[in-house]
Amino acid sequence: MEYLTLNNGVEMPKLGLGVFRVTNLQEAEQTVVQAIEAGYRLIDTAAAYGNEEAVGRAIQQSKVAREELFITSKLWLTDNSYEGAKRGLERSLKKLNLDYIDLYLIHQPIGDVYGAWRYLEEAYQEGKIRAIGVDDFTQQKLVEFITFNEVKPAINMVEANVFHQRVEDHNLMKEYDVQMEAWAPFANGGNNVFELPELIKLSKKYNKSVAQIILRWFMQRDIIAIPKTVNVKRMQENIDIFDFELSAEDMDLIATLNSGEGFKLPEDGHAFKKTLDMLNQFTV
Ligand SMILES: NC(=O)c1ccc[n+]([C@@H]2O[C@H](COP(=O)([O-])OP(=O)(O)OC[C@H]3O[C@@H](n4cnc5c(N)ncnc54)[C@H](OP(=O)(O)O)[C@@H]3O)[C@@H](O)[C@H]2O)c1
Repeated sequence: MEYLTLNNGVEMPKLGLGVFRVTNLQEAEQTVVQAIEAGYRLIDTAAAYGNEEAVGRAIQQSKVAREELFITSKLWLTDNSYEGAKRGLERSLKKLNLDYIDLYLIHQPIGDVYGAWRYLEEAYQEGKIRAIGVDDFTQQKLVEFITFNEVKPAINMVEANVFHQRVEDHNLMKEYDVQMEAWAPFANGGNNVFELPELIKLSKKYNKSVAQIILRWFMQRDIIAIPKTVNVKRMQENIDIFDFELSAEDMDLIATLNSGEGFKLPEDGHAFKKTLDMLNQFTV
C-alpha cells in the first residue's frame, strides 16, 4: 500500500474501499472484513450510508491494529450546524464503536457548513478526529472556506473518473495543499467504462484489468481513490496495482478520455430545491 501525507502530517492510504449503497448490514460487515484481510486499510463510509455499525463490527473483528486502519465517515447535511456536528460526530463514533475517526468530512456543501466546521475544528483539536475535510466543494467554495477558517480542510472528496478528470480542480487543490480524493473512480460502472477501447488496449499491454489500469492512473496522479465492490475477487484485483507503472504516453492516452460533466449542485433555484429535497430524504 502507498500512502500520502495530508497537510496536517497525517498519513493516509492512497487506495481504499467505499461502501456506499451496501445497505445490507451483514453484507457490509462481511465486505469490510474481507477488504481488511485483502490488505485494505482505508474504509470509506458515511452517516448517510446507514452502515457505520456494520463497518464498526468488522473493525472489532479485525486482527489488524486500530492504528493501522484509516476510517473515514461523513457528517450528513441535516447535521450541518455547530450543534448538529456535535450530534453527528458522537453518533458516528458510537455506531462505529470507535474512540476516534481518522477522517471526518462535511458530506455536502449545503447549509451551515461554517457552524459545523467550528465544531469539527474543536473535535479535531481534542483528538476525536485525526483529520477533517470537505466533500464536493467547488473551487470557489473551497478557497472561501480556506480563507475564513482556522483549520484548512485536509481533503476535498470529489467525483473523479476517466470521464471527469478534474484536472483544474486538482491543480487548485495542490496549490492550496488540500488532498484530492476521488469518489466514483469507476463512474459507478457507467458509460461502459470497463469496455473503452483505449483502456482495453492498455489492459492488454500491461497484462492488467481495465479496473487496475484506471486505479493505477489515479495513483500516479497522487489522487486517493475508494472504489466500491462487494465482490472479494474484484477487491483483490483492485488493490493489486502497486507492481506496475503506466508510461507518460499512456497517462496522456487516458487524459484524452476526459469529456463529461459530473454531479454538480444546480444553480437554478427550483432545480436546487428539488436536489435539496432529494438529499434530505436520507436519514441518519
Ligand atoms: N462523497 C460523496 O459524495 C460520495 C458519492 C458517491 C460515492 N462516494 C464514495 O465513493 C465510493 C465509490 O463510488 P461508487 O460506489 O459510487 O462507484 P465506483 O467505485 O465508481 O463503482 C462501483 C461499481 O463498480 C463495480 N466494480 C468494482 N470493482 C470492479 C472491478 N474490478 N471490475 C468490474 N466492476 C467493478 C462495482 O460492482 P460490485 O460491487 O458488484 O463489484 C460497482 O458496480 C463509494 O462507495 C463511497 O464510499 C462518495
